[in-house]
Amino acid sequence: MSASLATVSYIGATILFILSLGGLSNPETSRRGNLYGMIGMTIAVLATVFGPRVAAAGIPWIIGAMVVGGSVGLYAARTVKMTQMPELVALMHSLVGLAACLVGFASYIDTSLVLTGAEKSIHEIEIYVGILIGAVTFSGSLIAFGKLNGKIGGKPLLLPARHWLNLAGLLVVIWFGREFLNAHAISDGMLPLMVMTAIALLFGIHMVMAIGGADMPVVVSMLNSYSGWAAAATGFMLSNDLLIVVGALVGSSGAILSYIMCRAMNRNFISVIAGGFGTGGGAPAKKGDAAQPAGEVVPISSTETAELLKDAKNVIIVPGYGMAVAQAQHTVYEITKCLREKGVNIRFGIHPVAGRMPGHMNVLLAEAKVPYDIVMEMDELNDDFPQTDVAIVIGANDIVNPAAQDDPTSPIAGMPVLEVWKAKTSIVMKRSMASGYAGVDNPLFYKENNRMLFGDAKKMLDEVLVALKA
Ligand code: TAP
Repeated sequence: MSASLATVSYIGATILFILSLGGLSNPETSRRGNLYGMIGMTIAVLATVFGPRVAAAGIPWIIGAMVVGGSVGLYAARTVKMTQMPELVALMHSLVGLAACLVGFASYIDTSLVLTGAEKSIHEIEIYVGILIGAVTFSGSLIAFGKLNGKIGGKPLLLPARHWLNLAGLLVVIWFGREFLNAHAISDGMLPLMVMTAIALLFGIHMVMAIGGADMPVVVSMLNSYSGWAAAATGFMLSNDLLIVVGALVGSSGAILSYIMCRAMNRNFISVIAGGFGTGGGAPAKKGDAAQPAGEVVPISSTETAELLKDAKNVIIVPGYGMAVAQAQHTVYEITKCLREKGVNIRFGIHPVAGRMPGHMNVLLAEAKVPYDIVMEMDELNDDFPQTDVAIVIGANDIVNPAAQDDPTSPIAGMPVLEVWKAKTSIVMKRSMASGYAGVDNPLFYKENNRMLFGDAKKMLDEVLVALKA
């Protein structure tokens, strides 16, 4: 393929990636957005592999690597459960970081590129910064992977004088950066490069370990952004314009997502990164605890739930992580259809950080074919709860926790929540009294107008559906 055809293909791929991002901003156009992205990526890969910069002798190696990588990717995509998706995404971010590091080291020891003067310095800065971002992304994403799949606890690790440690690390990185640029031979530059890589790896671990469970959504989107910048840095090292553009697109859209996540959780980005919010997750709320909310927990049966729903005019469903675990979205849709046929006005309230990844609930509801026009953002229907007869919370916890508004000492204080307790009756479906991801007790369960439907969400909803149809 000639150089000009490769450039035209790159421009075409770039346009498709921009259209893809545009499409992904709305559930109705997201399929088309995905398709644009897939076509763009195919063009990009073909133009790179068959472009002027790859020698024919290297092509079998590339194809071999693509077959191996593609098979692993295909296997993962087919076997991974929807609830494991956030972990998979974190793992993929780590691979982008690792690739940036490896490309950085390979570029440095590559003797075929002979540069002098300012060009040499610029190339070395690209390598140094690329490996730095790559290493932080790699280790940070691995820790995020561990935190998301529960292998590492949600409690923030707060080392004494942690900010000073970070500052000292930064100064050492800058100092070794100067040594690296002043090195006359590759062997002299290797030591500063390796020391910096080790510090960057430790910094990535430290940064994510210090962030509590409640702030993980911001970390996920932040690492998404980092992986974009790592890809852009790789593009600079390889002088590949498409990689720079695509990396910048991912980096900036991830940064915008982090901002949206922070706003959704009423958090300041800097204080999230500084760490310390949130505690461990999933622990049962202890009886007799001083912070134990007052009131009684009133259970309800699935038949009684169905009765309440039949008599209701306005219903709001609030799905959360538990709906994903139970894979209850299809039954939720069956119930929705059944109630709509009976004339009930039923809508879904989606919290921006419900579940474990951005858009988690929207994806599940779209999969079950719930119409988009009844799926509303939190802000669109939060004022409607007082006029709602029944609010059903399906496997959600933190996102409906009134402590976020009432308890300034709560780890989730200030986070906007869906005010389900303002409905005439709220029903929470979950298996036990365990806390959610942020590890905080939920006073909603003890409110007078709240009922608890204990059990697996799918099983309980199946029972509700049978009772509704009876
Ligand atoms: P959570 O607060 O984590 O609550 C989920 C609840 O689902 C749990 O309390 C659990 O209670 C219940 N559950 C689990 N399996 C169930 C099943 N099979 N059937 C019925 N219930 C089940 O979820 P949420 O309300 O969606 O809030 C999201 C939380 O995750 C927030 O703290 C958010 O910050 C955090 N987070 C979000 C993201 C993104 S980007 N969305 C990323 C990382 C972390 P039982 O065990 O008693 O059943």
